[in-house]
Amino acid sequence: MLGQQTAADRMDHIPFSGIREIFEECDRLEAAGEDVVHLEIGRPDFDTPKPIKDAAVSALDSGHVHYTSNYGISELRETIAAKFDRDNDIAYDPDQEVIVTTGATEAILVSVFAFVGQGDEVLVPNPSWTYAPSVRMAGGTPVSYSLDPETGFQPDLSELRENVSDRTELLIVNSPQNPTGGVVDEDRIDTLAEFAVENDLVVLSDEIYEKILYDDSEHHSLAAHPELYDRTISVNGVSKAYSMTGWRLGYLGAPEELIDPIIRVRQYTTTCAPSLSQHAAVRAIGSGLHEPMVEAFADRRDRLLERLDRIPGMDCPVPSGAFYAFPTLPEGYEDENEFVWSLLREKNVAMVPGSVFGSNGNGRLRIAYSNSVERIDEAFDRIEAWLADQ
Ligand SMILES: Cc1ncc(COP(=O)(O)O)c(C=O)c1O
Repeated sequence: MLGQQTAADRMDHIPFSGIREIFEECDRLEAAGEDVVHLEIGRPDFDTPKPIKDAAVSALDSGHVHYTSNYGISELRETIAAKFDRDNDIAYDPDQEVIVTTGATEAILVSVFAFVGQGDEVLVPNPSWTYAPSVRMAGGTPVSYSLDPETGFQPDLSELRENVSDRTELLIVNSPQNPTGGVVDEDRIDTLAEFAVENDLVVLSDEIYEKILYDDSEHHSLAAHPELYDRTISVNGVSKAYSMTGWRLGYLGAPEELIDPIIRVRQYTTTCAPSLSQHAAVRAIGSGLHEPMVEAFADRRDRLLERLDRIPGMDCPVPSGAFYAFPTLPEGYEDENEFVWSLLREKNVAMVPGSVFGSNGNGRLRIAYSNSVERIDEAFDRIEAWLADQ
């Protein structure tokens, strides 16, 4: 048997994903016949809208089954450039400044590999989705800056200023946010721009949830800010808005000077995004087909907030976007890991411990409301019964 010593040293800092750990356990429970309520994974439960599926079937029938350009098919790049222009007020040249990737996950990985070297530091939100392992794989060090729950999870500028150093290469910003549901305010972007220019940073702006907004919240792309355009990589994808997580289709836009190193990394990762998914994405982007799903997410959010409100201690900033809530633990509980695992084992309700997303998630849970109102109710009926028995 091979020993642990055969893995590369950097693997000591690459943990098994905390989200996936729960998800794998759910798989095992379901294989054993258990009825698990999924509130752990950011995977919309809707089918992909039919016109999008039809576009993939038609591409399949037409023989689009081969490798494509590393940048992606030109029709999709044009669709993406038109979307950036229309929705985000950003001008990217579809031939030189757009890359289609295998999910936003790959867009983030190739951007990090292109700009982060051994010993470089990267400013990463705390809490945040799993950017830190990509930074570590590239040999860099993630340095966190807080998102403040008191301000609806706005980036804490004073912490950014304290934590930046002459080794800092990249600033990662995510809005709307996973795991908090926060949306970065427009005036905060002005300050982020000043900070990025002052410290000569490349900015990676992960905007994958841009279409999932509630009430009167607005999404503002960082690259639309004149000071940020030159230094920003805009990351997006179809997974979340169009319920296409399994199609593995993301993209990025950036000025040509930034694209150059990124495309060279991309040529050696997955070569090109799945061809059929690229054709489907041409139909999805700009179609408005996400709208009924966003309405459903709004109802789910409201129901979840009502149910959380009934449980003492579960305080939850109202999510403005994405499909995550980030409440504190019920009264009398302190350890989010113990809470999540006991709840899963005893009641088959799956959530993610907040600490998976960084130290500011200690004492919190991430609840994904990418599941129906009925399933949210089922989960909370079980939780209320379980808490009453403790
Ligand atoms: C903030 C954020 N960025 C990127 C991704 C990756 O999305 P994709 O399915 O396009 O790889 C996710 C998925 O959960 C996410 O939450």
